[in-house]
Amino acid sequence: MVAAECKPYAWTGGLGDIVGSLPVALREHGTDVRVAVPYYGTVDPKRHPIVPSGITITVPVGSNTQRGTVHVVDEGEFPVYLIGSDDHFAGRAHLYGYPDDGHRFVFFARAALNAAQSLGWQPHVIHCHDWHAALIPNWLHIFRANVTAGELPASVLTIHNMEYQGNFGQDVLRAAGLERNGFLEHPTHPELTPRLIFLARGIHYADAVSTVSPTYAKEILTPKYGERLDSLLLKRGDAITAIVNGIDMTAFDPASDPHLIANFSLNNPTPRTANKAALQQEVGLPVQADTPLIGMVTRLADHKGLDLVAKVLPQFVRQQVQLVVLGTGDLRHHEVLTRAAREHPTNIAVVIRFDPPLAQRVYSGSDIFLMPSRHEPCGLGQLIAMRYGSVPVVRATGGLADTVTEFNARSNDGTGFVFTEYNPTDMFGAISRALETYHHSNTWSALVRNGMSRDSSWGV
Ligand code: GLC
Repeated sequence: MVAAECKPYAWTGGLGDIVGSLPVALREHGTDVRVAVPYYGTVDPKRHPIVPSGITITVPVGSNTQRGTVHVVDEGEFPVYLIGSDDHFAGRAHLYGYPDDGHRFVFFARAALNAAQSLGWQPHVIHCHDWHAALIPNWLHIFRANVTAGELPASVLTIHNMEYQGNFGQDVLRAAGLERNGFLEHPTHPELTPRLIFLARGIHYADAVSTVSPTYAKEILTPKYGERLDSLLLKRGDAITAIVNGIDMTAFDPASDPHLIANFSLNNPTPRTANKAALQQEVGLPVQADTPLIGMVTRLADHKGLDLVAKVLPQFVRQQVQLVVLGTGDLRHHEVLTRAAREHPTNIAVVIRFDPPLAQRVYSGSDIFLMPSRHEPCGLGQLIAMRYGSVPVVRATGGLADTVTEFNARSNDGTGFVFTEYNPTDMFGAISRALETYHHSNTWSALVRNGMSRDSSWGV
């Protein structure tokens, strides 16, 4: 697997969770999965046994070559190759967001492709995650012209989010050495033809394309969700498949999670209440056992539905409800939420940080977990929330539609509350159904149990 993130070495969200957990599930089935990720300046050599492989890789970049190093971490359940470069990764404080990101990931993907050769290990399949690795299928396509069929690995591209495409100009195209490859005329958006869009290349050239939920796989074939690449996806027809993400059921287990104040389980749910009190205290909300506490752990980005949340904040403060939001992202959302928390400190708490241990305490201490996403390829928050006994309120899109079902109080079926139209009224309706149910404690316990007993493992 080639990816920009892998938990626990470097990760900022769901991509890193998946690349950290899917290899474990596949190895249990006898697949020799190994992962290549950049050796970012943020990877802490004191926390992991990182050893140099002694291999230097020469990477063609434009008409020159650049050198990269390979370090190996073999502490966990699968080997990880860290691709190093002083120019591209060392000494930088963040994973992404630099003006030379296009060059950085051309280098990384090409180095990862060459590293396998230098390590004397030829995979049957290279599984490329997201745009950062999506040029690999394009290079493989070019190499195949000169070798016997079957000599080179097959490629799979997994799309975790269509919104992030890696869209760069001619300089990056030249660095990648792909300019003579005559990429398609863009069928619906001619202005994209001269661009190098990493994700588009991957979609076009990968032997198989997968995405992270069946609903998202259908959505992205439409202009509304396809982010201008829907026509390209449509051309791939049956090559596109969907596999719903799993979570690491051992790492995310309320019965043993070391970050919780009190561990609990399906058979021993009572200690959960201590987690709610501790969370209220930790984030500065009044400790009130009977006030429903809504949690959000999210990137503060538009597509996560934060504009809807901002619109219903006045209603929240009129009700006996508390809201805690944990995440980082767009400054605009920071400001709106921070102001709301300042004005209504007894109802709203906001923590602007990427803090996985606190996230686990939000899952275990909140009653309701809100994910009103405009689009959500899969979503892991709702899966973890259910396992930790927090009831999801979600919009029916992508993986949220595939993993959360509306609760039916008559039959006690269902795991959460679902709304379809992206507007504040419908979201508030779903929250109100949740709050109404919350006040019937036996029914609520049945609903919580439904979520906690859901199998969200990879199940391969
Ligand atoms: C991205 C998507 C999210 C998905 C995750 C892992 O972060 O936005 O929906 O769960 O990737 O596939």
